[in-house]
Amino acid sequence: MTDITTALANKPVEEAIQFLLEQYPGAVAFSTSFGQEDQVIADIIWRNHLPVSVFTLDTGRLFQETYDVMDLTMARYKQAIKVYFPEAAAVEQLVTAKGPNSFYESVENRKACCGIRKIMPLNRALEGVKVWITGLRAEQSEHRQNMEIIEWDEHRNLYKYNPLIHWGYGEVLAYLEKYQVPYNKLHDKGFVSIGCTPCTRAIEPGENPRAGRWWWEQSQKECGLHG
Ligand code: ADX
Ligand code: SF4
Repeated sequence: MTDITTALANKPVEEAIQFLLEQYPGAVAFSTSFGQEDQVIADIIWRNHLPVSVFTLDTGRLFQETYDVMDLTMARYKQAIKVYFPEAAAVEQLVTAKGPNSFYESVENRKACCGIRKIMPLNRALEGVKVWITGLRAEQSEHRQNMEIIEWDEHRNLYKYNPLIHWGYGEVLAYLEKYQVPYNKLHDKGFVSIGCTPCTRAIEPGENPRAGRWWWEQSQKECGLHG
């Protein structure tokens, strides 16, 4: 175990974030897509008045229900959420060259779209950040089962802190219910993991939580944000 893993061990999430803020003042940021896990973390951050920068990546292709929960979240907490958009010229070039639905044609096209709409804005959002907080959970996929609660991201040169990595889905739901946290209404319609509209569908009972993401692909189902 690294020193930082030991320091965070068995600390409640709010105390762990407090510790990270003391180590890296002004350089702790949380990325939210307003999914269930993200709503738990946002509530913990704001309920405890933790000075973490909160940002979201608006790909321009999100569901109306995602904008609705974003709106409800802004109204409820009245806290700053920095919104990052993709670079207009890059989107214009992509859609002009390949059309609006090129992601269905190949993994390469799909990754190009995710690159422009998610990864480039993420890179901007993480400039100067030393601790990146995410809502990843190990249960979500095989790939995520190998992730740690805190990891050094060599490529980005920062710590990635995944406070809910070992939480079960039931714990997430219980937290949302307990604190009456706003949630994306698509979760009531069979959607679990929610990304962009054209690339997300509801799942059937028993399906993998991420089966509804890029469902036409057999690949690892990661967009480059987390692997
Ligand atoms: S993804 O890589 O497949 O899109 P997923 O939807 O499971 O990721 O979300 C995992 C975590 O990545 C979220 O808890 C959040 O921290 C971050 N994340 C994903 N999408 C976004 C987004 N659009 N804006 C900000 N953070 C995001
Ligand atoms: Fe583009 Fe789909 Fe990736 Fe969204 S999830 S950025 S629409 S390929």
